[in-house]
Amino acid sequence: MNFTGIFEKTVLIVKPDGVQRGLVGEVLKRLEMKGLKVVGLKMMYLDENKLREHYAHHVEKPFYPGLEAFMKSSPVVCMCAEGKGAVEAVRLIAGVTNAAKADGGTIRGDLAMGMCNVVHCSDSVETAEAEVNRFFKAEEIFDYNKTEYLHVYMDDERV
Ligand code: PPS
Repeated sequence: MNFTGIFEKTVLIVKPDGVQRGLVGEVLKRLEMKGLKVVGLKMMYLDENKLREHYAHHVEKPFYPGLEAFMKSSPVVCMCAEGKGAVEAVRLIAGVTNAAKADGGTIRGDLAMGMCNVVHCSDSVETAEAEVNRFFKAEEIFDYNKTEYLHVYMDDERV
């Protein structure tokens, strides 16, 4: 029963507002209840260099200085989740960027109102790969069997 490493990995970051509001457990619970496998989990501070790399497409935008200050204001919690179609699944769980417009049932829709939107998540398979490497060292990603997979996926989905 070795299903490890065959599915996508994606990154979800609980942002400073989520940490300060005590929502880390709620976010983790939602990933776990969905059937995703948590393969990496760590608290860290993000510095200017890391943030400029992470938000490279946004550094010239007017909101960037505020976003950088916000993201440095507290530790964040980085999660790496694995599953079939995990990138898209986590995006759906997170909800749209503007929390006021996010659907009920999503993290942002249920837990936020504005641009303090609780979580960041990878927006594509390519970005996810880069973000796993950006936020985790190889030894911080855990390769293990999750017995629950037997009750999350049918046999023909585990390939
Ligand atoms: S854009 O301009 O449409 O490409 O930006 P978007 O994809 O909506 O957002 C990119 C990230 O920037 C954050 N963001 C903001 N933060 C603070 N203030 C303002 N006004 C603002 N606008 C966008 C947004 O939450 C996204 O962060 P991540 O971490 O990717 O969720």
